[in-house]
Amino acid sequence: MLIGHISDLHVRPEGQLYQGVVDSNAMLEDAVRHLNALDPQPDVVLVGGDIVDHGQPDEYQAARARLAQLAMPFLVIPGNHDHRENFRTAFADHAYLPCEGALHWCVDTHPVRLIGLDSCVPGRHHGDIDAAGLQWLRTTLAAAPARPTVVLLHHPPFVSGIPYMDTYRYMDPAPLAAVLQDFGCVELVLCGHVHRTMLRRWAGTVVASCPSTTTEIALRFAPDAQPQSWLAPPACMLHRWDPAQGLLSHLSTIGRFPGPYGFA
Ligand SMILES: [Fe+2]
Repeated sequence: MLIGHISDLHVRPEGQLYQGVVDSNAMLEDAVRHLNALDPQPDVVLVGGDIVDHGQPDEYQAARARLAQLAMPFLVIPGNHDHRENFRTAFADHAYLPCEGALHWCVDTHPVRLIGLDSCVPGRHHGDIDAAGLQWLRTTLAAAPARPTVVLLHHPPFVSGIPYMDTYRYMDPAPLAAVLQDFGCVELVLCGHVHRTMLRRWAGTVVASCPSTTTEIALRFAPDAQPQSWLAPPACMLHRWDPAQGLLSHLSTIGRFPGPYGFA
């Protein structure tokens, strides 16, 4: 099984630029082309939140038009730039999404069980999952504790070390860790939000953050660093499940580069 993973698309209404400078819509088109051109193609693509930039219906319309070009099914979670109810309306045909409340879901039809968590706090930018959401997660994991599972949420449950991102971090990940630690089946926790790739051992498993399909957030650790972004080569992640080998994650850069070159 091959799982594609894109995040932080920040789609804008048709004809508008992200942050006034970057054509995030065209960059999503590039990402879709990239995923479709893979051989073999992913069985499913995870879309890790911040699908649009301001949570507006015309942005979701632009996002849906581009995601519709994916040659494979895709599964969505919201990010802090999404609007929960506009998101629910935009993806009303996605039957795995609940009709009300937080947008937690579980898709059980692949060799790897996929769980999406809604870590958004409506109207705020930081992340959290309330007690009811954590109980839902515990019950869901307990229903199939021996099946390999991937958990997807938007906010990384760690301190990134980038001060202007940590202002909007998942503030108290310990209760989420306490749930995950009780299950040995969680192969990987996937997130986005930080527009960079980061890896961490956490809660008895591994957390990986996926880069954005559009801008990269500047890597600055100084306490007084100012928020900035780069237009760097965007990337997606590919998570390959082999029952004999386990789950292995790759970073796959989106774009055209010289090569391939033969080597002996
Ligand atoms: Fe984002």
